[in-house]
Amino acid sequence: MKIDLIIRNAADVETDCLVVVAIDKADKDKSSGGVLTQEKPLQDVAQELISSGELTGRPLELLMLYKPAGIKAKRILIAGGGKESKFNPNDLRKMAGAAARHLKARNIRNLAIALPSGAHFTAENAVRAAVIGVMVGDFDPDTYKSDRKDQRIESLTIVAPTGSDEKHLRAAIEEARIIGESQNFTRELVNEPGNRLTPTMLADRARKMAAENGLECEVLSTNEIKALKMGAFWSVSQGSDEPPALIVIKYSPPGAPADPVLGLVGKAITFDTGGISIKPADGMEKMKYDMAGGAAMLGAMRAIAQLKPRVRVNAVICASENMPSGKAQKPGDVQIAMSGKSIEIINTDAEGRLVLADGLTYARTKLGCTHLVDAATLTGACVVALGMVNAGIFANNDEMYERFKHALHQAGEKMWRLPLDEEYRDMIKSGIADIMNSGGRYGGAVTAAMFLKEFVDDKPWIHLDIAGTAWMDEAKPFIAKGPSGIAVRSLIEFVRSYAAQ
Ligand code: BES
Ligand code: MN
Ligand code: ZN
Repeated sequence: MKIDLIIRNAADVETDCLVVVAIDKADKDKSSGGVLTQEKPLQDVAQELISSGELTGRPLELLMLYKPAGIKAKRILIAGGGKESKFNPNDLRKMAGAAARHLKARNIRNLAIALPSGAHFTAENAVRAAVIGVMVGDFDPDTYKSDRKDQRIESLTIVAPTGSDEKHLRAAIEEARIIGESQNFTRELVNEPGNRLTPTMLADRARKMAAENGLECEVLSTNEIKALKMGAFWSVSQGSDEPPALIVIKYSPPGAPADPVLGLVGKAITFDTGGISIKPADGMEKMKYDMAGGAAMLGAMRAIAQLKPRVRVNAVICASENMPSGKAQKPGDVQIAMSGKSIEIINTDAEGRLVLADGLTYARTKLGCTHLVDAATLTGACVVALGMVNAGIFANNDEMYERFKHALHQAGEKMWRLPLDEEYRDMIKSGIADIMNSGGRYGGAVTAAMFLKEFVDDKPWIHLDIAGTAWMDEAKPFIAKGPSGIAVRSLIEFVRSYAAQ
């Protein structure tokens, strides 16, 4: 997608479609809504529709007008931003996404967005929201349809009023382009089926991404994983004919302080059958997205490499299949993790925590990571608790949690903190080993997090359970159904927050 900036009156911009924001002013001024622009011709175009009540400005409302009088654009798409007092960059991002999806479905591939005037946020934030919204909206998951019509948006023009600061707005566009592309990079990976993205193929994609972005990348496979005594990781991989891959990516910019070293650890089960504790057939095909945590870390690293914050970041992606076979691990087996802790396997379907246990240990002991963040489609219990609206977030450190919460807010992503009380530790006690890999049905998201906590030692750590949010069963006006790319934007903001100090 070509993205450009024009500083000019929006009414004078020649484009297939000019998107303008309409706002609902009902909370302030009963008489009218309004378009967020200072330009008289644009106000005039909307005025009659607003007076008649046909256009209210409610969130994601879309109204297309053809050959508007006094305006150079072929069409105008008036897009609702919701209540004026609440209108924020997240509303604008969704609105831009909805507009993009509406237009591409109608074969309109070139659009311009008039930056809203009089909004309660900066022009830079508006630019970022509009660009990310359109890029995220442009993604469709129909990769392998043979009649796939390439309906991708060709160009987006951001129209800023005269007097705008061109340099700052261009920088905001560039930043948003990187973030939007990286989120979509993650979504492409998550969308791939298990036969087209084995651990080896994921490692190849990671290597390619790293090479293109000047990142260091190393892939450890079976022999190295065994040599490192990663007994928890290997126990998941041993049942599969496909070798595992421990993907290690390093970003250490010149001049960055020695401390902190951030460690991003991702679960990347390229297909989760459950292993010997096999899953029911119904819906099992969805378990191709069990690598969404690892894919999120790859997307975040891609953006970090391009945005270049002055902070050291390593990613560790634990890629494996979870398969039943004559070589597969069995319930009752005992495994020794890289940290030396012994684990009784109760359920081979609780495999994510096993690969992450060794991934976290590796990040901490071999890469010197001082702060750890993991992301994983870890538990069905998290989906039961929070549905598909919020991801689960756990933290052993309040300061780090607050920092992540701020990043979530900036990125416009939703996660809800769940507890890690010591009492839950009892639920994963084992009679034969140090811990067991399943605490049963009750509090399943928490006991999974408690298991991971055993492997972070005293390091500040955040765990993101994205099982319910990494895949959307229903489309929304601003985003296709399928892989969401959750956590990518927050991770990027979180990492950048360390460089901003
Ligand atoms: N990958 C699943 C979790 C999952 C469930 C992700 C639904 C996305 C949607 C994970 O490996 C798993 O199977 N977890 C088990 C743990 C249980 C056996 C303790 C679960 O949640 O049922
Ligand atoms: Mn599983
Ligand atoms: Zn899984």
